[in-house]
This record gives sequence, C-alpha cells and structure tokens, in this order.
Amino acid sequence: MRIILLGAPGAGKGTQAQFIMQKYGIPQISTGDMLRAAVKAQTSLGLQAKELMDKGQLVTDDLVIALVKERISQPDCKNGFLLDGFPRTVPQADAMKASGIKVDYVLEFDVPDEVIVDRMSGRRIHQTSGRVYHVKYNPPKNEGIDDITGEPLTIRKDDHEDIVKKRLVEYHQLTKPLINYYQNEKKAGNTEYFRIDGTQPVEKVTHELEKILG
Ligand code: AP5
Repeated sequence: MRIILLGAPGAGKGTQAQFIMQKYGIPQISTGDMLRAAVKAQTSLGLQAKELMDKGQLVTDDLVIALVKERISQPDCKNGFLLDGFPRTVPQADAMKASGIKVDYVLEFDVPDEVIVDRMSGRRIHQTSGRVYHVKYNPPKNEGIDDITGEPLTIRKDDHEDIVKKRLVEYHQLTKPLINYYQNEKKAGNTEYFRIDGTQPVEKVTHELEKILG
C-alpha cells in the first residue's frame, strides 16, 4: 500500500498518519519530520533547510527528492509507505513518477485557511516521535506531556501565526496544483484519489479513511 497524504499545513496529515501507520503496518515518511531531524543534528542538509523552514518557505526540490528516494529504498518500505508532506510541488511529483514509484492512493484533506490558522495556534508536538496533539481538539491525557513517553510537548517554531500565513501562501501557489495533477493521474487509471472533509473531528476523519482503505 503506497499512500500520499495531500493537504494544507495543519490539515491533519500527521495526525491521521499515526492511525494509518499503526493500522496498516507501513512506515510514515514525513519530509517535515526528516528535515527537522536534520536541522537538530546540524547536518549540511539541516543547515540549508533551516533558514527556509523558519521563514515558512519550501525547501528546494532537489534536496527533498534525494531525501525521499533514499528513504523509500530502505527495506521497511518494500511493502508500502505513507508519504506525509511529499510531494509538495509538481517537480517533486514528476521526479517520483520518473523514478517508477507507483502510488495506490492519494488522500486529500480539505480544510479552509481560517480553520488552519486556529488549529496551528493550539498544536503541540512530541519532537522525537513526531506525535501530534491539539490543546482543545486532540489533547494529551496530561497537559503538556506526551501520552507514550511522558516527555514534555513543544510548540513548533513555524506555528506562529505570521509564519503559518506564509506557509499557506506557499501551499496555494506550489502544492495546490497537485490536486489537479493527481486527479488527472486517477483519470489515467494510475492511482485512486479521494477528497476528505478535514474539518470533521479527528475520529470521523479516521473512520472515513478506514472505509476507503479497507
Ligand atoms: P511539515 O512538517 O510537512 O508541515 P506541514 O505540511 O506544513 O504540515 P503540518 O505538519 O504543519 O500539518 P499536518 O497536516 O500534519 O497537521 P497536523 O496533523 O499536525 O513541513 C514543515 C516545513 O518543512 C515546510 O514548511 C517546508 O519548509 C519543509 N518541507 C517539508 N516537506 C517538504 C517538501 N516535500 N518540499 C519542500 N519543503 C518541505 O494537525 C495540525 C493541528 O490540528 C494539530 O494540533 C492536530 O492535533 C489538530 N488536528 C488535526 N486534525 C484535526 C481535526 N480533524 N480536527 C481538529 N483538530 C485537528
């Protein structure tokens, strides 16, 4: 099962990725998490990515494509994978297609910009695992603490309102064209494509995914 999660920043991709990963036993490949890990480790990739990420801009296609290709070649991806945050531009999608990487499902989470800005202000993350919470809509069992490890939760640097608005501009300009791209792929019989109302509560979105993926 090879799946792409498509949607604006904060649309709920990471939240639902946790469910899909556990239920279907495929690894989550989150380019955002991989880039944040590179920034933390201060690798040369991390140093290049940091400046762009802090400004709410996308990292260059070449860097991200190389990162994903390397990750997909790992043995744990041989039965499938879940791409969360990739592809994010048409050149990224083209590069994947040119490498012969087939996609079974493209799942689009549809959420309006106003809802996104509200959601981001309440997001809390567990940095090591990438687990995502929301203070109101998806709270941890104990405030500020990760459910599994008991470690403290943090706020992402790029979740401040002004940066979120910049990320939304990038989304509309560079990522939204992928909706048409993959709808055409569906017409050509190359993938399944589903649009999900991402404004529903977390459990309802999960239930809808379960119905689609079986
Ligand atoms: P990345 O980490 O991928 O961020 P993003 O796409 O902007 O997505 P988010 O993680 O912000 O949101 P999400 O959809 O996963 O939402 P979540 O589930 O957390 O990328 C960060 C940066 O890295 C980019 O800006 C870019 O610079 C770079 N980058 C990454 N990939 C790249 C690429 N391919 N090319 C170039 N650059 C790249 O949910 C958000 C909040 O809402 C949470 O608090 C959650 O609890 C809550 N929530 C979720 N679902 C619901 C619901 N149904 N109802 C209510 N609340 C909900």
